[in-house]
Amino acid sequence: MRIIQYIFLLLAGLSFFACEQEWSEIAVNSPDYKLQLVFYLKDGKPLYKLSYADKQVLKESSLGFKLLNLPSLDSNFILLDKNLSSYNEVWEQPWGEEKRIANKYNQLTIFLQEREGMQRRMNIIFRMFNKGLAFRYEFPEQENLDEFQIAEEKTSFSLFPDDSAWWIPAYKPERYEYIYKKSVLSDIDTAHTPLTVEAANGLVLCFHEAALYDFPSYTLYPSDSSGLIIDLVPWKNGVKAYVETPFATPWRTIQIAKTPAELVTNYMILNLNDSCRIEDISWIKPAKYVGIWWGMHIGRYTWGSGPKHGATTANTKRYIDFAAENSFGGVLVEGWNQGWDGDWMANGAIFSFTKAHRDFNLKVITDYAREKGVSLIGHHETSAHIDNYEDQMEEAYKMYEDLGVKYIKTGYVGQNLFNGEWHHGQYAVRHYQKTVELAAEHHIMLCIHEPIKDCGIRRTWPNLMTREGARGMEWDAWGPDGGNPPSHVPTLVFTRLMSGPLDFTPGIFDIEIPQKPANRVNTTLAKQLAYYVVIYSPLQMAADLPEHYKGNPAFEFIRDVPCDWAKTKALNGKIGDYVTIIRKDRNSEDWYLGSITDEQPRDFRFILDFLEKGTDYTAEIYADGDSADWKSNPLPVDITQRTVTSRDTLFVHLAPGGGQAVRFTPLTE
Ligand code: NOJ
Repeated sequence: MRIIQYIFLLLAGLSFFACEQEWSEIAVNSPDYKLQLVFYLKDGKPLYKLSYADKQVLKESSLGFKLLNLPSLDSNFILLDKNLSSYNEVWEQPWGEEKRIANKYNQLTIFLQEREGMQRRMNIIFRMFNKGLAFRYEFPEQENLDEFQIAEEKTSFSLFPDDSAWWIPAYKPERYEYIYKKSVLSDIDTAHTPLTVEAANGLVLCFHEAALYDFPSYTLYPSDSSGLIIDLVPWKNGVKAYVETPFATPWRTIQIAKTPAELVTNYMILNLNDSCRIEDISWIKPAKYVGIWWGMHIGRYTWGSGPKHGATTANTKRYIDFAAENSFGGVLVEGWNQGWDGDWMANGAIFSFTKAHRDFNLKVITDYAREKGVSLIGHHETSAHIDNYEDQMEEAYKMYEDLGVKYIKTGYVGQNLFNGEWHHGQYAVRHYQKTVELAAEHHIMLCIHEPIKDCGIRRTWPNLMTREGARGMEWDAWGPDGGNPPSHVPTLVFTRLMSGPLDFTPGIFDIEIPQKPANRVNTTLAKQLAYYVVIYSPLQMAADLPEHYKGNPAFEFIRDVPCDWAKTKALNGKIGDYVTIIRKDRNSEDWYLGSITDEQPRDFRFILDFLEKGTDYTAEIYADGDSADWKSNPLPVDITQRTVTSRDTLFVHLAPGGGQAVRFTPLTE
């Protein structure tokens, strides 16, 4: 018998409907009714479809799990119950790209139970936001499902043959450090997320996950019939995940936008994480920083001891002076500790995280930094030897806390973690989580290199400030392929940066790196400035050597630009080609604009209607100079000032591989 039942609910001023049809078909809409999910059971198999306005986003897609040594949880289900609810709040980020974030969704919980056999229960929770779908699996506490091992996740996203994706390969030696490729879905290798799809129907979709605390991260591979299937990163013994009920998986997310520019400010991933677990967050503060760092990458300094050792007491004091003079909050010092001599990439077992090189006096340095109002950014390169690190972590974090060090940059260089586990499996997820929680206990903010991908846990643990997890600026110094191409950052904005802050380490003025004949920075200098607006990171580095900044008027922009924002908006964007972002400072009325392009020169005009109406602003414009070109003439920056209002139009010319940065300051009477 065909049952049609409409349920109208009016909750918190919102209405939405669910309809139950044959095969228990249940529909739920986003609060604005544009996005619609349909869940149904077909012969006991849980399935779903998704549409946005009049466009189908996902065709029939599957759900469930294969378990190890137990019957699968992907069929044989009956619908026990369902629940509809809605939620609407605005919350404040302690720091971020946006101060106030709206979290509004309708939620459908499906309660399933096996029809026969062990009658195990599994719930699926769907959250419908105006700009995306998230869902997670929940395994309630129950007699016939206690501890178990997942052999495979069966979730699929059934797309269309002409949809194409921007992706980087998973299970490769350089972890997340690859140049994004664009291809049709069927040509994807197993890929990491965020994976961004340009759908044939014009929509832009970003596949990722949220609230990854104790589960493997997921990768995606193409199905035979034009879709993508979740592949959980395994432990080295092949098990995908160890689970104990009650348990909820991370959220599987699809962010949806009509244009790439609209995608950039989708904060669904943050909304899906729990609110802050750190009681007093007054010590958590964004900062710009300099560091003894680029010098090693271009071969001027060494991490290990010897005549070129960078992290000496004297050199570090010089960096601290430079940071203090220019109001930077931090000085990163790499190579300060014992263990770098020899092949440090292989020697992770001998790193000490508490003992300094003979020519680096930690106490003298931290006292000096404190007097100057600067914090050291301590550095823990583990070379992926987690065992050695976990043995020392507690003592090392305590030592830094006692010395007043507020930040630590960690690193995990290595193809695999020390005992053959992947950087992005459940084992690693647990380790990274341990560092975040321990750091919070010791009032330490973290910047993680070679990290697990970001799934928005900064909402819960705001001491996890930023991560790498992409090909950063350092690849320009030594990348065997000559470094990051001009299209790299215009791609990252719509892919990697969808997951969260990126410690890309911009600000290289010595574009041609004379001591590295095979390498150079593949941008104009003005594009380096624009990165400070385009690339979001609450710990933002001025990565070049202080001597390369001194006397260059373009450095003024790096001194001025904040790294904590009240508002963010993308004015335009095409993945891999160009993007323009505006942000409002959190601590003043200033606005900033950053615009970047790939190899192509571009001309844009922007109406400045984001500025406060009726107010005059000084626009300080840092533009590519005449005949600037990333390849042949990268250095000219044309610095001009003019008075503008919200009614004016800004004409922006970007040189090939170029960029433009603008600061708008209200004119005081
Ligand atoms: C790789 C990191 O990305 C880089 O920033 C660091 O300098 C080296 N590892 C050494 O730890």
